[in-house]
Amino acid sequence: ETQNEPNIVWHSGAVTREHRKTKGSTLWFTGLSGSGKSSVAVEVERRLVASGLPAYILDGDNLRHGLNAGLGFSPEDRQENVRRVAEVAKLMADAGVVAIVSLVSPYREHRDAARAGHEADGLPFFEIFMDTPLEECEARDPKGLYAKARAGEIPEFTGVSAPYEAPQRPDLLLRPSDGDVDALATLVIERMQRD
Ligand code: PPS
Repeated sequence: ETQNEPNIVWHSGAVTREHRKTKGSTLWFTGLSGSGKSSVAVEVERRLVASGLPAYILDGDNLRHGLNAGLGFSPEDRQENVRRVAEVAKLMADAGVVAIVSLVSPYREHRDAARAGHEADGLPFFEIFMDTPLEECEARDPKGLYAKARAGEIPEFTGVSAPYEAPQRPDLLLRPSDGDVDALATLVIERMQRD
């Protein structure tokens, strides 16, 4: 990055990560639309904050109203979407916050870049795969988007007319058969505390 920006110099602050009261990290939820990412993210955030740890949800749908307004769903736009959210998550984790990312993030390469960025900065990163089968997401169809996508009204819809590349080695894999939202949130927090 700095090689491309020869006139921009990195400034270090007086506060190091060790000085902060809490240790940040990123919980990165990936999965199809309707797989349950947001529901589990909301419960994890609630519990972490209740226990005194700062946590904050970065939700794809919500961020597309602001930070990522103007980005669509082409592979290039999804890459930029994932890149920006990964950068924000890194800043939050560096600041001592648990960043809870909820993004379809369907391309392995883009998720791997998000992980690599965290690792380069020494920030913990957990890839959490909401492995809910397409048929179940489609049966739930909470926003009616699968019906629209099948009717040809939404182009490049993940799982219907655009790919979803499942993680090969997620830090945690969650299936509907693992339990309800409460049970899944427990698994996430246990996984996070294991490291
Ligand atoms: S991505 O792939 O990570 O850039 O997507 P993300 O920012 O998470 O946005 C996904 C939400 O946008 C809605 N939506 C679509 N999803 C997938 N494909 C297409 N074409 C699309 N168009 C709109 C959808 O409601 C996703 O919300 P979630 O919360 O995942 O259900």
